[in-house]
Amino acid sequence: MSPDIDSEYSVVAIDGPAASGKSTVARKLAKRLGFSYVNSGGLYRAVAWLAGEHELRPDDWSAVSAQVRKSVFNFYLRNKELSFLIDGNNPDTHLRDEKVNRTVSAISAIPEVREFLVAHLREFLTWDNLVMEGRDIGSIVFPDTPYKFYIDASLEVRAQRRAAQGQRDDLFFRDRADASRRASPLTIAEDAHVIDSSSLTIDGVVGEIIGRLKIKRLPEALGLDS
Ligand code: CDP
Repeated sequence: MSPDIDSEYSVVAIDGPAASGKSTVARKLAKRLGFSYVNSGGLYRAVAWLAGEHELRPDDWSAVSAQVRKSVFNFYLRNKELSFLIDGNNPDTHLRDEKVNRTVSAISAIPEVREFLVAHLREFLTWDNLVMEGRDIGSIVFPDTPYKFYIDASLEVRAQRRAAQGQRDDLFFRDRADASRRASPLTIAEDAHVIDSSSLTIDGVVGEIIGRLKIKRLPEALGLDS
């Protein structure tokens, strides 16, 4: 599944820009397939939160990296969804804080943070079949998986979706930062199936993915309705 991992399990990679609808689609898809769901963005957000708690500047790469090395991360599956504690704390309720929205792209540009998280993301595939969403899942984390999707939507539609969630989030700024950083920028893996979700419902996107997974003969998809 990846250059470093030998696993009996399958992973469906779902990448795309902010607010493209990936999370809702990925969670629903995981339920239908009976796979565990991993939102890799949550881990980058958690490190952004951790840096904020320790009053570290996101551009102070060595201080943030040192803090990541020092902290104790516990990862586990709960109800088929990845959960984690950092130094005994569950940062879940802070992951969508405005401060995290503002700093996460800078934090996720730190190579050592990425190396640390990518190693864990790969390890989760030794636990269960996965639907994993993010920015670099098909390109870097699991380049060998045959099941890769890239979900896009126009900036306008994405901004409306985020506003409807009641969040302040500068998508344009994050898109630019995520696509232009040196370490694992947001790219479309060559063999990914691209879906523009601008005018599709969530079920429409999930259906299209399942249809594609059937063509690819993913066993768990074969008995499902698209
Ligand atoms: O939900 P949304 O699409 O807004 O973002 P997210 O998936 O929660 O990811 C938050 C941020 O984490 C992104 O803007 C990226 O900077 C970073 N990220 C990343 O670099 N690599 C990933 N695999 C996932 C997220």
